[in-house]
Amino acid sequence: MHIDLGDKVAVITGAGRGIGRDIALSLAREGVHVVACDVNSDDIANVTSELAAIDPLSLGYTCDVRDAGRIAELLADAHTALGRIDILVNNAGVVGDAPIDELDESTWDVIQDVNVKGTFLMCKAVAPYMKKQRAGRIINAASFAAISPRVRSVAYATSKAAVAHFTRGLAGELGPWNITVNAYAPGMIPTQMNHFAELPDDKQSELLDTLTLRRWGSTDDIANLICFLASDQASYITGSLIDVSGGKLATQIPSEAYHTD
Ligand SMILES: NC(=O)c1ccc[n+]([C@@H]2O[C@H](COP(=O)([O-])OP(=O)(O)OC[C@H]3O[C@@H](n4cnc5c(N)ncnc54)[C@H](O)[C@@H]3O)[C@@H](O)[C@H]2O)c1
Repeated sequence: MHIDLGDKVAVITGAGRGIGRDIALSLAREGVHVVACDVNSDDIANVTSELAAIDPLSLGYTCDVRDAGRIAELLADAHTALGRIDILVNNAGVVGDAPIDELDESTWDVIQDVNVKGTFLMCKAVAPYMKKQRAGRIINAASFAAISPRVRSVAYATSKAAVAHFTRGLAGELGPWNITVNAYAPGMIPTQMNHFAELPDDKQSELLDTLTLRRWGSTDDIANLICFLASDQASYITGSLIDVSGGKLATQIPSEAYHTD
């Protein structure tokens, strides 16, 4: 199978670092004109210059996904420059772990606003462009927490379950325009969001024991899935929540296969 994404235009939120940065660079290497956005202006400046070395038509914007005005502005600007918007990856996200008696209302609000409302605002703003083209791909970052919440992380898990359900509803709405809407559920990818790779060895080992493929995920594992979902070959997949977690819920006690004595 040969995936050809050449000359498509993709908007990626939270592209300044971590998984989003790798998605942006991977799509650019596949010939996509990338519109990278992030709330962190230093990070987006760095990624924008990395992208420019791959594709001089790529663009970078500082944008908070909670800001509908800024979203409208950047999409109009990118559309004027590049002529279309084929792909939207709603990758931006925040986490905030705390037991419920220590979970502030403000933390709850920020997590729902960035993860859920930010996804909604981006989709609402991009839909008219995709409808006019009668084609589009919207790909939303959910999480394994959408299926199985982690203890002391109810705000995050709730937000990601909402993203998964929003994805299904929007897939129904936009299907008639040949726009697919999917979500993906990464398991454990060490990034600045979770600092997994910096945990003590015994803690890392404990977490790895929950995975059928007993290794951390890489940002490439996610970027590869995004390239596929963005491609013509994925044109019959919509409304799905795709598990990219190394089999986190595939088996009951996956560590039994690794610790044999
Ligand atoms: N890393 C994992 O194991 C994992 C697992 C499941 C889901 N996810 C999801 O994948 C996505 C990326 O995660 P990551 O690990 O790369 O995290 P990260 O914290 O390294 O990166 C998140 C990016 O989003 C940006 N961002 C945050 N708030 C924003 C806002 N209001 N507007 C625009 N950009 C904003 C940040 O500046 C950052 O660049 C998130 O949605 C996360 O919930 C990650």
